Amino acid sequence: MSMNILAIESSCDETAAAVVQDGTKIISSVVASSHAMHEKYGGIVPEVAARMQLESVIPTITECLLPLGNASQNMREKISEHIDFIAVTVGPGLIGSLLVGVEAAKTIALATNKPIIPVNHVLAHMYANFVRSERNDSQQINGNDKMTQKDNREIQFPAISLVVSGGHTELYLLNNEKEMRWLGGTIDDAAGECFDKTARLLGFGHGGGLAIQEAATRYKKTDISPLPGKALPIPMLSNEHVLDFSFSGLKTAILRKVTALDEQHLLSDDMIAALSYEVQETITDVLVKKTLKAVALHNAKAILLSGGVSANLRLREKFLQKIALLAAPVDFHVPPVSLCTDNAVYIASYAHFRGVPVPVTEVNATPDLSVEVLS
Ligand code: KG4
Ligand code: ZN
Repeated sequence: MSMNILAIESSCDETAAAVVQDGTKIISSVVASSHAMHEKYGGIVPEVAARMQLESVIPTITECLLPLGNASQNMREKISEHIDFIAVTVGPGLIGSLLVGVEAAKTIALATNKPIIPVNHVLAHMYANFVRSERNDSQQINGNDKMTQKDNREIQFPAISLVVSGGHTELYLLNNEKEMRWLGGTIDDAAGECFDKTARLLGFGHGGGLAIQEAATRYKKTDISPLPGKALPIPMLSNEHVLDFSFSGLKTAILRKVTALDEQHLLSDDMIAALSYEVQETITDVLVKKTLKAVALHNAKAILLSGGVSANLRLREKFLQKIALLAAPVDFHVPPVSLCTDNAVYIASYAHFRGVPVPVTEVNATPDLSVEVLS
């Protein structure tokens, strides 16, 4: 018999709900984003994010349930009849935002008498790789998604999983669909944060890594001379921090470079494109190198890439290029772009494969929930 999970995600500035069958089949998925609201403040304002979550949560869940049952049924009837478990992100994330999803999920679980599963957002990201993709992903960038997504192959274990998002850059070893161990992570900024801060410095507002990616593509088409001065530092490639990351030095180097160029009136569009290219190359180099190091150390058979930054086309391309040079074959899995950035599909998938139902009273928003799984 199949099992349907209704998942709710509200850890940051996206409000998302999804129904997923058996952890792999998307029945329905809705994402409402308050990105645009944050644009004018130059970053996410937690109070604004929380207020937007509150406005969006019921419409998002209602829309997500539309494909279930028939039009005459209300939300409660649909859930009672078609849903087996409620899953919800409890952390890490912004307290005000998390509370909205958590309280909504608890209320639904109590009203419908369904078991509830608390989910760690960062660990859940990697389960986007377990979801079967229908190849009609409307959010593909440049149609290039097919290039890196070979459909629905079974995942070979042990696998190395890199979760690379706005707040996290973490490496895990997976022995099967459930057992995982944290191997290392960023000791300061996350890769996504470095993309986001660079985007703001270069005048792309809240456009983040996607804006950098697009500008970097323009660079290749121009014939501007290489950047003046030293290349950007590649952080933490030494052996002592073999599977840790650090991006704060890179961020400072970019700040210095942009400030100097600005003072010399050299910050032209072409220069911005060149800088975007260089930043993207540096960040993606580190991510690929560290992940391949983890693969070698653990004799892994597969790589699972996930998190918002895994939407980056250059990162996907670089992984494929480097993996092709390896002596032993390694499978590369990356979700379609629409499942890389925040949504509730992977929350449901995680709940299916690794979640444990708990009493409603034990489900609490936990902003600083640890991602360092040790067993
Ligand atoms: O996973 P996510 O949606 O939210 C968090 O859990 O943090 O990740 C958001 C991050 C942001 O830093 C954003 O700039 C980055 O993902 N991102 C990208 C791209 N698309 C989103 N970074 C690089 N290239 C992209 N195409
Ligand atoms: Zn995320």
